[in-house]
Amino acid sequence: MKKKALVTGITGQDGSYLVELLLSKGYDVYGIKRRSSSFNTQRVDHINQDEHVKGQKLNMIFGDLSDSSNINHIIRTIRPDEIYNLAAQSHVRVSFDIPEYTADVTGLGALRIFEAIREADLNHTRVYQASSSEMYGDAVEVPQSENTPLNPMSPYASSKVFAYHMARNYRIAYNMFISNGILFNHESPRRGETFVTHKITRGVAQIKLGLMDKIYLGNLDAKRDWGYAPEFVEAMWLMLQQESPDDFVIATGETHTVKEFVERAFDIVKIDWKKHIEIDKRYFRPSEVNILQGDYSKAKKILGWEPKVTFDELVRIMVKADLEYFEKQIKK
Ligand code: NAP
Ligand code: GDD
Repeated sequence: MKKKALVTGITGQDGSYLVELLLSKGYDVYGIKRRSSSFNTQRVDHINQDEHVKGQKLNMIFGDLSDSSNINHIIRTIRPDEIYNLAAQSHVRVSFDIPEYTADVTGLGALRIFEAIREADLNHTRVYQASSSEMYGDAVEVPQSENTPLNPMSPYASSKVFAYHMARNYRIAYNMFISNGILFNHESPRRGETFVTHKITRGVAQIKLGLMDKIYLGNLDAKRDWGYAPEFVEAMWLMLQQESPDDFVIATGETHTVKEFVERAFDIVKIDWKKHIEIDKRYFRPSEVNILQGDYSKAKKILGWEPKVTFDELVRIMVKADLEYFEKQIKK
């Protein structure tokens, strides 16, 4: 019998890569998408076109993490072997503008999934909870590991801390298989356009092609541990194949400033970045996370997982993809 996987957040960056991975491993994949007034499935539209040929497809279901009865119904009906909870209001800056909504979806949304499994007595279901390095916030040590105390600095991070602790509590209290992946920043050409890496690489491509002149950014001094998203979703799957549930940091172990990302991206197109970057106060946060750098040694030892794509390669992959994208737009 084929294993059944349910993925929330399929229309996002990670959801799209994870669905590809699960289909390639022969899972029956069900994905929750939320209703939107405009098309929101661009990142997964290619999947059914490709996969139909091989007799596999992504089954899409309308759902929303803010709606308990909907989540209960989906989980009771599908009875998945594995659930990957990737759905979230995932933008840190935006979480300061909509804190209550963020807590509802990013925090309570996870709890709704755990409760639905418990209520339905699905003893076989394993859950991956998308926890985040943002939970370390104003980090008390560098690098951060599974043992580093959490010190969240935003409504988003606080909501993720709630979900993280609920995952651990349900694991202990009800003996449920729930693993937290504490993923550090991971990027790709499918990254949301308002996260800093993609904002920069899209800007660089447009500047190179004469389509725009300036990129407006906030804090250039923040440091992040940036990895490559397709590699990070493999770690999610590995966590659910272990004998017992646990928490794992997934990171590259390297940290770079936003400014370094800008420099590398402009270097690729041989343009002087200083002429094209403007600082705009709107992009600063009420409280900032200054440095994230992950220690992934536990994941390496237990999951056998290691990052492969380097920082330079990541920047290059993203700039190249954006150049190709905007070149196509010009030709249309
Ligand atoms: P993303 O691109 O922002 O995708 C978020 C997904 O959640 C989208 O499919 C979105 O749907 C969906 N969603 C939002 N609100 C929802 C709701 N109320 N009900 C159902 N679905 C909803 O995020 P990502 O980068 O793929 O990240 C995946 C997960 O990992 C998130 O939980 C994020 O917080 C966490 N995380 C990400 C990183 C990272 O660096 N990428 C690092 C650590 C943790 P729409 O497409 O309709 O908006
Ligand atoms: N978004 C954005 N836009 N960030 C900017 C900008 C800008 O114009 N200018 C500077 N930054 C800085 C932010 O202040 C932050 O320090 C850093 O760039 C990274 O910002 P984001 O790319 O928005 O990512 P994030 O680190 O806040 O959050 C991402 O990673 C988390 C894991 O650590 C998101 O994907 C979260 O969902 C994820 O949990």
